[in-house]
Amino acid sequence: MAKLNFGGVEENVVTREEFPLSKARQVLSNETVAVIGYGVQGPGQALNQKDNGINVIVGQRRNSKSWDKAVKDGFVPGETLFDIEEALQKGTIICYLLSDAAQIQLWPTVKKHLTPGKALYFSHGFGITYSDQTGIIPPPDVDVFLVAPKGSGTSLRRMFLQGRGLNSSYAIFQDATGRAFERVIALGIAVGSGYLFETDFRKEVYSDLTGERGTLMGAIQGIFAAQYEVLRSKGHTPSEAFNETVEELTQSLMPLVAENGMDWMYANCSTTAQRGALDWWKRFRDATLPVFNELYESVATGKEAAKSIESNSKPDYRDKLEEELKELRESEIWQAGKTVRSLRPENQEPVAPGSAGDNFEKKLQKVKFSSPLYRD
Ligand SMILES: NC(=O)c1ccc[n+]([C@@H]2O[C@H](COP(=O)([O-])OP(=O)(O)OC[C@H]3O[C@@H](n4cnc5c(N)ncnc54)[C@H](OP(=O)(O)O)[C@@H]3O)[C@@H](O)[C@H]2O)c1
Repeated sequence: MAKLNFGGVEENVVTREEFPLSKARQVLSNETVAVIGYGVQGPGQALNQKDNGINVIVGQRRNSKSWDKAVKDGFVPGETLFDIEEALQKGTIICYLLSDAAQIQLWPTVKKHLTPGKALYFSHGFGITYSDQTGIIPPPDVDVFLVAPKGSGTSLRRMFLQGRGLNSSYAIFQDATGRAFERVIALGIAVGSGYLFETDFRKEVYSDLTGERGTLMGAIQGIFAAQYEVLRSKGHTPSEAFNETVEELTQSLMPLVAENGMDWMYANCSTTAQRGALDWWKRFRDATLPVFNELYESVATGKEAAKSIESNSKPDYRDKLEEELKELRESEIWQAGKTVRSLRPENQEPVAPGSAGDNFEKKLQKVKFSSPLYRD
């Protein structure tokens, strides 16, 4: 296993060079990998394994769009596509890829088929970490591990087809056979991972829940909403408030941050933007730090898990969710965003110079060149 240096801290990472596909095939040669669930992760992981020459079957409930999708993707009913229970019986490695709520519901059925020596595989630490709430407690004589791709099943498949890999984390919760490590790494490679970072179930789920509630989705929307509200209350138009809050970030800055890092961005923007950003970022950090600590605490104590299990299992869950999503969809900021997006050059018909569309072009140029990346 390679030790790589991440900002001064050494971590264990498994690479495709040290654990090539040929080795993964050899480790899994006597296994039947049953992918249970054909939602988002299911298709990506099952198809990549199939194309990598692994003996993979799919377990999916019938009379469902997901069943039809599996058939369309080449899984053959009765040969490589089965009802969930039949696949559980045939599989020696059970990839449990139902939605987290369905995993709780189906657990008694899954448990019945976990005979000694089999392996139970997850792509999230949720079910095991919060076992006091999910009831997911595997028998002691099976291996239990996870591979969590750092992206959706769609990206996993797309990047595989492009000949690239998506990085994943892996963790072992229980090694009953003494083969858990080679099994989990072989699966990680077979599902199309590039690098595999070591973690444990608890850390995987704590960081994942914190991230999605924090900077990935919750915090970022909160900061967008606050800045937009201030600009609007001070008389700025919706388009101006949106451009300065979201559009420039997603269109111009984030692709550069993704490529080169925020340190590079700070070093390569206008001096005005640079001075302001250097003066203000620590104030934002200090203002949000207590909220992030509260968030982590809520994740670590299981409060977030309880909320999500409770709300997802309510019969009117979909209706309530739709109400909340409607509020966001119909908010002025995202309505303004819809119009701004439609004005992006790639969404416009080409306009002949001197035609009525000329003003429009000038406005677009203004949006483009007001970016702090262009020196004042
Ligand atoms: N999505 C991601 O980006 C991502 C990334 C990394 C890890 N993960 C993890 O991967 C796992 C799978 O996630 P996912 O997003 O792929 O899940 P998903 O799309 O929500 O999974 C849906 C699957 O669960 C089945 N299902 C739902 N309710 C069911 C029930 N009551 N009985 C039987 N089957 C039921 C669905 O069948 P029907 O279509 O018939 O309803 C479908 O096969 C989760 O642990 C998740 O946390 C997800």
